[in-house]
Amino acid sequence: MTQLQAKTDLNKQKQQAAEHAVQSIESGMVLGLGTGSTVNFALEALAQRLRDGDLRNIKGVPSSTDTESLARELGIPLTSFDEVNVIDLGFDGADEVDGSLRLIKGGGGALLREKVLAQASQRNLIIVDESKQSARLGSRWALPVEVLPFCWKLEAGYIQSLGAEVLLRRDSTGSPRLTDEGNVILDCNFGPIDDPESLDARLNQRAGIVEHGLFIGLASEVIIAGKEGIQVLRPQSITES
Ligand code: A5P
Repeated sequence: MTQLQAKTDLNKQKQQAAEHAVQSIESGMVLGLGTGSTVNFALEALAQRLRDGDLRNIKGVPSSTDTESLARELGIPLTSFDEVNVIDLGFDGADEVDGSLRLIKGGGGALLREKVLAQASQRNLIIVDESKQSARLGSRWALPVEVLPFCWKLEAGYIQSLGAEVLLRRDSTGSPRLTDEGNVILDCNFGPIDDPESLDARLNQRAGIVEHGLFIGLASEVIIAGKEGIQVLRPQSITES
C-alpha cells in the first residue's frame, strides 16, 4: 500500500468515526466542539444534519479558533462559557488512546481548552481512526505540555528530570508556536509511560505548567473506526456496534 493510500484510508476511518459520533447529537443540546481533522469531519456531518432539518436548537462551544472559524463557515451556531456552564455532549479527537480510555491529546495545540470542555461535559465522545490505538501511552506520540512562556526553560528542565526528551514546538518560521491562550507547547518524549496517573499528578503540581495532554477519566466513549468497522470502548467494557 502506498503512503497516499494509507492516508486516504485513515481519513475515511476518521470520517466514519466522526459520523458515528454525530448520530448521538439530539436537538437542544449544547455541544463541545474539539479540534483537529477528525473533528472537522464531525462538524461537516453536524452541519449536514442541521441543513437537513434533522436537528434544531444546537449550540457549540469551540475549543480553538480553528474550530470556531470552520463552525462559523458551516453555519453551526456557537456559544461560550459566558452563557452556558454545562456541555451535554462533547466530541473530540485524540493522538493516542489506550484500552483504559486514557488519551494523549494536544497534537493540534488546543489541549487546554479541550480539557476545559471535557471536564464540563456530561458525555464526552472521542473519535479516532485505528492508528491512534496504543498498548501504552507515549509509545507513538510525545506528550504535549502547555507552559507559560515566562518559565518554559525552567519547566523543560523539570520535565527532563522526570525522564523526557523535551522540544519546544515551533511554527514554520522557527518561532515558538503560541497557543490560543498565548502559551507555548513542550513536546515531551517519555517513551512508553509506565504510570500515566503518577505523571499526571507530577505535571499538575507545577505552577508554570498550565496543562498537559494526558486525559485520564475524561472519555465516556472512544469510537474507533478501523478496517473491520466501528468499535466503541466504554469504561470497563468493549462492545461492537
Ligand atoms: C488537538 O489539540 C488535538 O488534541 C487533536 O484532538 C488531536 O491532535 C487529534 O487530531 P486529528 O483528529 O487531526 O488526528
